[in-house]
Amino acid sequence: MSNYHIKHLEEYYQVYRKSVREPENFWEEIAEEHFLWRKKWDTVLEWDFTKPEVKWFKGAKLNITENCIDRHLLTRGDKTAILFEPNNPDEPSNPITYKELHSHVCKMANVLKDQGVKKGDRVCVYLPMIPELVYTVLACARIGAVHSVVFAGFSANALATRITDCDSKIVITSDGSYRGSKTIDLKGIVDEALRISKGVETVLVAKRISSEIEMLQNRDQWLQPLLDKASAQCEPEIMDAEDPLFILYTSGSTGQPKGMLHTTAGYMVYAAYTFKNVFNYIENDVFWCSADVGWITGHSYIIYGPLCNGATSILFEGVPSHPSYSRFWEIVEKHRVNQFYTAPTAIRALAKEGVGHIEGHDLSSLKVLGTVGEPINEEAWHWYDDNIGKNKAPIVDTWFQTENGGIMITPIPYVTPTKPTYATLPFIGIQPALMDENGKEIEGNQVSGRLCIKFPWPSIARSIWGNHQRYKDTYFSEFKNMYFTGDGALRDEVGYYRITGRVDDIIIVSGHNLGTAPIEDAINEHPAVAESAIVGFPHDIKGNALYGYVTLKETGEGRNHDNLRKEINQMITDQIGPIAKLDKIQFTKGLPKTRSGKIMRRILRKIAHKDSSNLGDISTLLNPECVEDIIENAL
Ligand code: WT7
Repeated sequence: MSNYHIKHLEEYYQVYRKSVREPENFWEEIAEEHFLWRKKWDTVLEWDFTKPEVKWFKGAKLNITENCIDRHLLTRGDKTAILFEPNNPDEPSNPITYKELHSHVCKMANVLKDQGVKKGDRVCVYLPMIPELVYTVLACARIGAVHSVVFAGFSANALATRITDCDSKIVITSDGSYRGSKTIDLKGIVDEALRISKGVETVLVAKRISSEIEMLQNRDQWLQPLLDKASAQCEPEIMDAEDPLFILYTSGSTGQPKGMLHTTAGYMVYAAYTFKNVFNYIENDVFWCSADVGWITGHSYIIYGPLCNGATSILFEGVPSHPSYSRFWEIVEKHRVNQFYTAPTAIRALAKEGVGHIEGHDLSSLKVLGTVGEPINEEAWHWYDDNIGKNKAPIVDTWFQTENGGIMITPIPYVTPTKPTYATLPFIGIQPALMDENGKEIEGNQVSGRLCIKFPWPSIARSIWGNHQRYKDTYFSEFKNMYFTGDGALRDEVGYYRITGRVDDIIIVSGHNLGTAPIEDAINEHPAVAESAIVGFPHDIKGNALYGYVTLKETGEGRNHDNLRKEINQMITDQIGPIAKLDKIQFTKGLPKTRSGKIMRRILRKIAHKDSSNLGDISTLLNPECVEDIIENAL
């Protein structure tokens, strides 16, 4: 993509207005200018949110891997595309150039073809954060197969559900994975999953930890010998704009995960365009997104967005705490990282350990910091700004969802003045609306409501795999002609958006709507508090009362709990008002979290409701062990 960036706020508004007034012309220009097409489109956009149906660039032909790899070979062939940083800092970093990436992806593509994988087939990818993960994803795209990456921290049950749902006949995995000082028996998990899900014919196994594993005859094969034999040339399959590119599962309100289906051209255009603009990417920057490729953030901002721009993207196998809490900053220093993109939960975990881990590390290469995944509380925002960005690197608080494909609400760095806890303004082409309970749009500023999007953007998911009705019911039924995000938001006096959390996190106390995020923010300001989560529980007079689960920093551990309770409630009273005071405060060692770091309020809510008999499947949690402790000490 060209190196031009929006330079000031007035220009943002101009471009934004154009993208809203003439969306088709706007996106057509972007598509024309920045991508490689085998054939141009017949129409830019056809859409109908009532069906719902969205088609971008209909009739166009392309292959996304030609855009991610081939077209860079002449000008950037020896440039690092993927910079692999292993779990163990003593193992050398591995820079993979665009030329090398091309050959690895072609080999992998030929291996998949040899195994009988055809255009349209679903390929389940259950790999740790190693180069083979990137090769496999791109190899699928090369031959028109649909990748379904399952985060390699999910349990056998969760994996089986996902394999069955999209009917994958093949799984790509590894013998095991490194995670900090531990190893995980990935192949064992796959074996267990395949005792539950019966349709898989082929398992290809990458070697990572060289553990002793069982190989099932006629089903399991080591990957490397197949790669060694494969040709390093593979002609890309020419795809239609609307051909499926991938399925990525996200949890829903029922146990069955939703396989969000993303298609080729629109996804590519939006992932690449947001990458360049949201991170102020310029040639030769080193970009690091610390998410796992198993999430949409990793799909769009480790692989597709950066590679479409010919960027260098870091693939980090490890965790922030290994071998010490300095690891992130060692990597930033070592590779002179320019953009660093992570999640609030990681920021809070690092902040809890103190600034000593940052000292002595040169972070001066950083020019943009990003956060994504949940509302960032004010304290964490300032910690990030002060200690990592040294108040010089703007923070982009980027809001989006698996369903969206790319960043939707975000500041543009060096353009949009930031405001802690605010994702600020809609990205170019995004038309948000706040809706009230009666389905009416709430106009004007200083209002809050349910966050919807009025108009399609190029990377909106097209369906839920195998269940279009559920897609319609979940996203297009609550509000007429709108995509409903499931989030609540407020719009401040200048039109900035603050995401207040899932609408089911709003608790009505004595008739007042209270968002959990601002209350948690207030609690987290307390110097002894590390993290907190608020849920509602039934109360005779108020309807609902508030129950807070609080974890303490090391410095707070010896403190008297009753005094702490008083202080916390005083802080809430000071910041929000007495209405938001907590009736119960339970101090706990940990909060149950999903693998992507989201606090599982559903579980905490049940415990607060004294209904912990049926908590559902907690095996996919990051830290299931803390649940028992919370139940035991519930108030
Ligand atoms: C939900 C989507 C998109 C990457 C990972 C999450 C919450 C996401 C923010 C943010 C406040 C955020 C929303 C959204 N969320 N980013 N910057 N501020 N909330 O993807 O697992 O599909 O979750 O994450 O509640 O609906 P996901």
